[in-house]
Amino acid sequence: MCGITGYVGYRQADKILFECLKKLEYRGYDSCGIALVTKNGLSIFKDQSRVGDLEKKYVKTKTKATAGIGHTRWATCGEPNATNAHPHSDCSKNIATVHNGTIDNYLELKKALTKKGHKFKTETDTEVFPHLVEEYMKDTDAETAFKKAFAELKGSFAIATVIGGEDKIYIGRINCPLVIGVMDGEYIIASDSTTLLKYTNRFIYLQDGDMGVISKDKVTLFRNGKTVKPKIVSVENKYDDTELHGYPHYMLKEIHEQPRIISSTIDDIEQLTLLINQINKDLGGIKMIRTLSCGSSYYSSLILRYLAPQLLGIPTFAELGSEYCSLTVAPKGSLAIAISQSGETADTIKAAKEAKAYGYKVLAITNVSDSQLSRLSDYTWITKAGPEISVAATKTVMSQAAWMYAFVLANPSLRTLQKKASISSFRKVPELMKQLLEQNDETIEVAKYLKDFEDIIYISRGITYPIALEGALKMKEIAYIHSEGYAAGELKHGPFALLSEDIPVVALVSHDKDYSSLVTNLREIKTRKAPLIVITDEKDIMLENLAEKTIVLPKCDATYVPLLHLVEVQLLAYYTAVERNNPIDFPRNLAKTVTVE
Ligand code: M6R
Repeated sequence: MCGITGYVGYRQADKILFECLKKLEYRGYDSCGIALVTKNGLSIFKDQSRVGDLEKKYVKTKTKATAGIGHTRWATCGEPNATNAHPHSDCSKNIATVHNGTIDNYLELKKALTKKGHKFKTETDTEVFPHLVEEYMKDTDAETAFKKAFAELKGSFAIATVIGGEDKIYIGRINCPLVIGVMDGEYIIASDSTTLLKYTNRFIYLQDGDMGVISKDKVTLFRNGKTVKPKIVSVENKYDDTELHGYPHYMLKEIHEQPRIISSTIDDIEQLTLLINQINKDLGGIKMIRTLSCGSSYYSSLILRYLAPQLLGIPTFAELGSEYCSLTVAPKGSLAIAISQSGETADTIKAAKEAKAYGYKVLAITNVSDSQLSRLSDYTWITKAGPEISVAATKTVMSQAAWMYAFVLANPSLRTLQKKASISSFRKVPELMKQLLEQNDETIEVAKYLKDFEDIIYISRGITYPIALEGALKMKEIAYIHSEGYAAGELKHGPFALLSEDIPVVALVSHDKDYSSLVTNLREIKTRKAPLIVITDEKDIMLENLAEKTIVLPKCDATYVPLLHLVEVQLLAYYTAVERNNPIDFPRNLAKTVTVE
């Protein structure tokens, strides 16, 4: 995890580093810091604070440095405190390093360095690196020392190092992202290219194992022990709307963007058919799908597990990226669909690489066009959610969920009549979603009721079950209330033991083929005295009898009700978190992009 950045050129480095770090906070915000190269050494500023706060404190000690590195942290090794904040330095305080990832052999290295007299101040794995460079520099020049030190590391990491008095950045990466932005007489590095789009759209993407030295007029790149010519890639410079536009939080703003996302997904169905035709051609027909994803993206993928077998006759298996272990070679016609809004989630990337190695063609569904996932996949579909700032994913989840429907509708094997009828119902969803977004009174009332509970259970059945899982995740993530999602039929296989007046059950009810079985489950729950909150597409006497509180969604074609349920569970978590005065957009202990396994 963590975001790293660096600048070398002719402009004042501090301003640029802070600007980039603010963009990188989605990768973690436990602490942050910068190291600036001065004539005689380094100036390091760091604290357990958000980037904006460090910048405010920093202004008083402005320097004119034109080279430096920066870091925003999600703690993996060592508590999130000011001492463990990056950059970390050696004994002389003349070498500073920022690092994203994990150094697996840091304890061995630390022991060996300690024996040689090095003094360590932090609990981090990162700190071994500047000390290693310092050790090698006793006998050799800085570049060779960096290379030797880098070669000793085991694990997954992206590293940037500066040395006092040298306007240079030493870099290297294995399994963690690092990109160099190219400008005239200046270079800028970051964990992702989006951070750098304000400055440039020309990038050098480092491959696994690459090392390099950057000065203001050149990049020297080393690959497998040889110097290689850096390949510069130009990318499309996308509009980056990251303003709040009057909303109190990014999460609420992003929830309100969802009707637009459904509309643009529908508009892209023909385009998607072209992609599916290509995949069908390459595979000789899609005979089996395996989805690979984590967190909310996994819940979106579950929607396809319901839709594709039923409507397309394609067996579909949903795998968690972190648990995926392909034990067999892909049967003919197998497609792996890797879903990740960031395209940088380590577990999903690892699973996609493994699937490829076993012969699957991989289709990436991501919100970031030049992400690692997109670059390693055989095919890529870019969701049109736009940048999502809130750590709790909402509009990107909607873009993925809508894509699952679009995939089925775009499939040539779906009967034309069925397709036509279904697309016309799909087109009505954005308007219904707008109506839902305007009616918040019931949601706020339920949020006020839920805010003092310590546990909540979410249930549903069939295709709405993934939304129950997502609702529980959102409630945990931002309201900090322990919540679990269950398939309603599973409750009686154990979780029933928990039911009491102290655990409300939020039931997502749709008037579809699962309605009767779900109502039976609700009756069983009511009998055990658990308060029932029903979110439904239609009020009826049965539900009125059972529910403590009810939220009614606008009436919608049964196929698409899960998309309205999705909005409602997001709103419920949002308003509950507001009632509890929680930091909505940046919840504790989390990072938007999870780049460690
Ligand atoms: O970038 P990805 O879609 O791969 O991220 C996967 C999960 O980390 C992500 O969905 C996470 O669960 C969200 N914070 C949920 O709101």
